Amino acid sequence: MKIAIIGTGNLGKSIAKGLITNNAITTLYLTKRNLEDIQDLEGYKNVLLTTDNIEAVKQSDILIFAIQPAHFENILRDIQPYLTDKHVIISTITGFLIPQIEALIGSDQYIIRAMPNTAIAVGKSMTCLCSNENGKKRLKIAEAIFNRLGHTLAIPEAQMQAATVVCASGVAFWMRLIRATTQAAIQLGFDAKEAQELAMYTSEGAANLLITNGHHPEEEIDRVTTPKGCTIEGLNEMEHKGLSSSLIQGMVASFNKINNIKKEQI
Ligand SMILES: NC(=O)c1ccc[n+]([C@@H]2O[C@H](COP(=O)([O-])OP(=O)(O)OC[C@H]3O[C@@H](n4cnc5c(N)ncnc54)[C@H](OP(=O)(O)O)[C@@H]3O)[C@@H](O)[C@H]2O)c1
Repeated sequence: MKIAIIGTGNLGKSIAKGLITNNAITTLYLTKRNLEDIQDLEGYKNVLLTTDNIEAVKQSDILIFAIQPAHFENILRDIQPYLTDKHVIISTITGFLIPQIEALIGSDQYIIRAMPNTAIAVGKSMTCLCSNENGKKRLKIAEAIFNRLGHTLAIPEAQMQAATVVCASGVAFWMRLIRATTQAAIQLGFDAKEAQELAMYTSEGAANLLITNGHHPEEEIDRVTTPKGCTIEGLNEMEHKGLSSSLIQGMVASFNKINNIKKEQI
C-alpha cells in the first residue's frame, strides 16, 4: 500500500510505527512542517519524510490525516486539486464530520473517518470507522490498516461521539479501574510495583478470556464465584457501593459533555 500520513505528530507517529513494524507499506510518506521529531523514522526502507503535503498526496493512494482540527480545512483546500479517484481519504480528526469534509473536497471522494485510541502506540487500539456513501467501497482498506494496529468496528457516523467516550476516553476509565485495583493490592500486602503488575496482567487476562471465548462477562464471573465464597462477597459489596452504576453514570456524563462541548464553544 502507498500510504501518506499528513501530520506525523503523536497519533501519526504511532500509526507510522505500527505500519512499518507490520510491513504494511509499499511506500510511506510522513509529513510535518518541522521534521526533527520524526528523524528516527528516516532510516526505514521505503519511508520518506517531507514537509510537502502535495508531493505526499501525489505519490500515495491512501491519505491518513492526523493533524489538529484547526489545520484540517486549509490542508484539504491545498491538496484538493491533486486528489484523484485512486485516493482514499482517512481522517482521524475528532469532531470533523464527513459532510464538512465532503463540502471541501466533494462527495465523490472515498472518505473514511477513524477514531483510534492511545493504545494504537502498542498495536492494541480499538478503532471505530465510518465512511461516506462512496467510502463504503474502500472501508475494507481502512479495516486492513487499523486491524494491524489493534481491532476495528465499522459504525454509522452518528455513533462516533459515543465511540469516542467508550474507546478514547475509555482508556482513562480503565486506567482508573486498574489504579484502584493496584491501591487495593497494596493494602492487601503487595509492594506498589508488584501490585500494578498483578492489576495489569489480571485485567489483560480477563479481557482476553472474553475475546478468546466469546462469552458474556457473567459466564466468566460464574466460574470464579463459589456459593458463600470470597469472590461473590467482594462483588456484591462493590455493587452495594455502586460500581456498575457509577461507571454507567460516568460514561453517560462524558457523552453528555461531548455533545455539549460544541454548543459551549459558540
Ligand atoms: N492522540 C490520540 O490518541 C488521538 C485519538 C483519536 C484522534 N486523534 C486526532 O488526531 C489528530 C492529531 O492528534 P495528535 O495528538 O497526534 O496531534 P499532534 O501531536 O499535535 O500532531 C499533529 C501534527 O500535525 C503537524 N502539522 C501541523 N500543521 C501541518 C501541516 N500544514 N502539514 C503537515 N503537518 C502539519 C504538526 O507538526 P508540525 O507543527 O511540525 O507541522 C504535528 O506534529 C487530532 O485531530 C486528534 O483529534 C488523536
